[in-house]
Amino acid sequence: MPLRSALDLLPRARAAGHAVGAFSIHSPEMVEAVFDAAEAAAAPVILQVGRRAVRNSGVEQCCAWVRQRASRSAVPACLHLDHALDFDAVVRGLRAGCTSVMYDGAELPLAENARRTAEIVRLAHAAGVPVEAEVGRVGGVEDDISVEEAEARLAGPEACARFVAETGCDSLAPAVGSVHGLGSGVPRLRIDLLRRIAAVVPLPLVLHGGSGLDGAQMRAAIGAGVAKVNIDTELRRAFVAGLREGLEAHGPTDDPALALAAGTAAVRAQVAARIADFGAAGQA
Ligand code: G3H
Ligand code: ZN
Repeated sequence: MPLRSALDLLPRARAAGHAVGAFSIHSPEMVEAVFDAAEAAAAPVILQVGRRAVRNSGVEQCCAWVRQRASRSAVPACLHLDHALDFDAVVRGLRAGCTSVMYDGAELPLAENARRTAEIVRLAHAAGVPVEAEVGRVGGVEDDISVEEAEARLAGPEACARFVAETGCDSLAPAVGSVHGLGSGVPRLRIDLLRRIAAVVPLPLVLHGGSGLDGAQMRAAIGAGVAKVNIDTELRRAFVAGLREGLEAHGPTDDPALALAAGTAAVRAQVAARIADFGAAGQA
């Protein structure tokens, strides 16, 4: 089936109380694994292309993998450009067929983030594509920051409401305590803050940094208005661990398919587990 806009999937998910998994892909095998898991669960799904994948393989190539597999998908699927930092990256993503884009102005002062987001919204909407934007700053596990600094990076409800009104964005990723990557501990989501944001922002909310978060926190976040959860690091980890196990299990071999099959199976299992956490099974 043709790729779907995020607008077809996310407002409905927020209203129904589930979240659509947005899984970052880095190879054709990962694309296959995400689609297979989504189809087995009859779940809508988002495949996203982030900056690492763009750097490694190019946005056109990554999007072509997804478009090709989507043409025989049994579930509604959206192709999302993740964390684009500038106008050019968004234009390339749109040309490559993305049906959703994220502009990431989180490093900028809020007013400048809003100004640039509004420009991206005009551009993407002219192409019929919705825009996700970020307020506050979802950092990485490698950031060495104090409790005060972490607090200062969180999104405030009033700032979120103003940002949405000023930019016309279609979904919002507020910083609510999650971090990108997998650290030693499990981050504590600020569900109270999420609820206050959801009370003044009727749009689907997006949770970044989904890797490593436990199912209970995920469910609480979804209950508070999150309609899209981004997962990257844990899928890359699963893929690499699967490749390694596949090679070890088969002993000396010159057939890469053996390792790739094991890597694909590991990603499929992880995506299936997350779809269950998100309450998305049977929602296609
Ligand atoms: O945009 C991508 C995500 O926020 C992924 O974060 O690597 O912690 O899963 P993660
Ligand atoms: Zn992210």
